[in-house]
Amino acid sequence: PLAGVVIAVDGPAAAGKGTLARRLAAELGLPYLDTGLLYRATGRRVLEGGADPRDVLAAEAAARALTAADFTRPDLRGPEADMAASAVAAIPSVRAALLDWQRDFGRTHGAVLDGRDIGTVVFPEAPVKLFVTASAEQRAHRRWMELRARGVAADPDAVLSELRARDAQDSSRAVAPLKPAADALTLDTTALDAEAAFQAARALVAAKLGR
Ligand code: CDP
Ligand code: CDP
Repeated sequence: PLAGVVIAVDGPAAAGKGTLARRLAAELGLPYLDTGLLYRATGRRVLEGGADPRDVLAAEAAARALTAADFTRPDLRGPEADMAASAVAAIPSVRAALLDWQRDFGRTHGAVLDGRDIGTVVFPEAPVKLFVTASAEQRAHRRWMELRARGVAADPDAVLSELRARDAQDSSRAVAPLKPAADALTLDTTALDAEAAFQAARALVAAKLGR
């Protein structure tokens, strides 16, 4: 058990961050937080209210109004939810509204958190930061397989172009852009399955923590 330790897992869309972070958390006995859900749920609330996810006031109000029930909605995945999440995530006041909540989650007992800015903004002092990545083609293939498993017949080219567009938007925004922290350890999973990625991550964490 690693009580009190924060492990940051960041990276682009469908790199396998969530799968990896959840498993690391279970292995290390730490709580796990998927921070993408905060932005997905905010985007959903804005769409539901009939506003544009780029509308600053509507998005900020939606972020402030989130409750636990927002995170179990069945419509938080898919192209529309992806792009709405990325749009609200570019708004500084939305990010500010969600920051303390993320910090409180990790501060007391430690946690594994996955997202885009965990190692750069939310927990810049985290002792372990992983930047999980893979080629865009490999990531698009993983997302396409997930959609297929859910019974959604998506066009592979559309999945790839949506993923590229979202990464570009997330990387180019002014506040908390997607980028590795200076002290992040990069894990390229292009040629690794989920099990191999987990074993590699486990070795990186052990080396970093000296155990
Ligand atoms: O959180 P993120 O969007 O980065 O990825 P995810 O939700 O964990 O989804 C990644 C998908 O790729 C899952 O279906 C995994 O089974 C699969 N996968 C993986 O997670 N890691 C690999 N190294 C290879 C495949
Ligand atoms: O699973 P996937 O990698 O496709 O997306 P996600 O992690 O659920 O995040 C959805 C969107 O929320 C991202 O495209 C980002 O725009 C935003 N996000 C963010 O800005 N900061 C975070 N810490 C987590 C997500």
